Amino acid sequence: MSDAMTAEFDTVAQWTAEVAADLGADYHVPAGCRGSGSPAALDWLLDGLELTHGESLVDCGAGVGGPAAYAAQRSGVRPLLVEPEAGACRAARTLFSYPVVRGDAAALPLRDGAFDAAWALGVLCTTDEQAPLLRELGRVTSAPGRIGLLVLVARDPEVGSPGHGEQPDGNHFPTVDGLRELVDAAGLTVEALCDTADLDDVPGDWSSRVDAVTAELAARHGDDPAWQQAEHQSDLIGQLISDGRIFAELLSLRRR
Ligand SMILES: C[S@@+](CC[C@H](N)C(=O)[O-])C[C@H]1O[C@@H](n2cnc3c(N)ncnc32)[C@H](O)[C@@H]1O
Repeated sequence: MSDAMTAEFDTVAQWTAEVAADLGADYHVPAGCRGSGSPAALDWLLDGLELTHGESLVDCGAGVGGPAAYAAQRSGVRPLLVEPEAGACRAARTLFSYPVVRGDAAALPLRDGAFDAAWALGVLCTTDEQAPLLRELGRVTSAPGRIGLLVLVARDPEVGSPGHGEQPDGNHFPTVDGLRELVDAAGLTVEALCDTADLDDVPGDWSSRVDAVTAELAARHGDDPAWQQAEHQSDLIGQLISDGRIFAELLSLRRR
């Protein structure tokens, strides 16, 4: 993983949990979702995956664990978090009580078909092992193979190529067609998809909690190079989104 990604997914993840723990329980889930998910996106995925009370869900690349906690609170699912970064694993254990396994999406330390569903939110675009990630999600889910993805997709195939402006470090944004090909090659099929720009806005109380966490992180760690690197990375991604060069796509998949 690149230095910028380690800063964001390891160091800042751990700081985020410390800040959220100090601010109080109402801040835990929004803070834990700073890495990608909004309530509307998570609701769309939970509905698309038809997740019901008591079913098991693998959250692959779970980060600080906010999306898994949101799923458990909204649908009563039983999440298992898999995450390679030690700081993020500690962060998820600090804020939430769900099991966390340190592991890599390309070789999930889980048995075949042992889970009702799996999702990977904002993960596929951060790894060059995209085909193994999709195959592994298919392997660990039982029939019909309910899999959710949130992926930053390039509208412009040149995003990430040299000579096209400063790019966020370590990201691998698939194109729309490239992502469809990856899904197909993994033996999966698209049941439904959605551009997150078409979903409801983030509720005010959620975004004010995220803003409070971000302000406190900046107050505590603003001078630290890891914070500055992570913020720069997030600014570059924000700029690519506002320029319309990448967008966040949600996919609800099934095994073919
Ligand atoms: C943008 S963050 C999203 C975190 C979380 N899924 C969320 O939505 O809040 C990307 C996460 O993917 C994880 N990640 C990166 N490469 C991975 C891999 N090969 N296997 C599993 N997770 C990975 C990172 O450590 C990080 O926690």
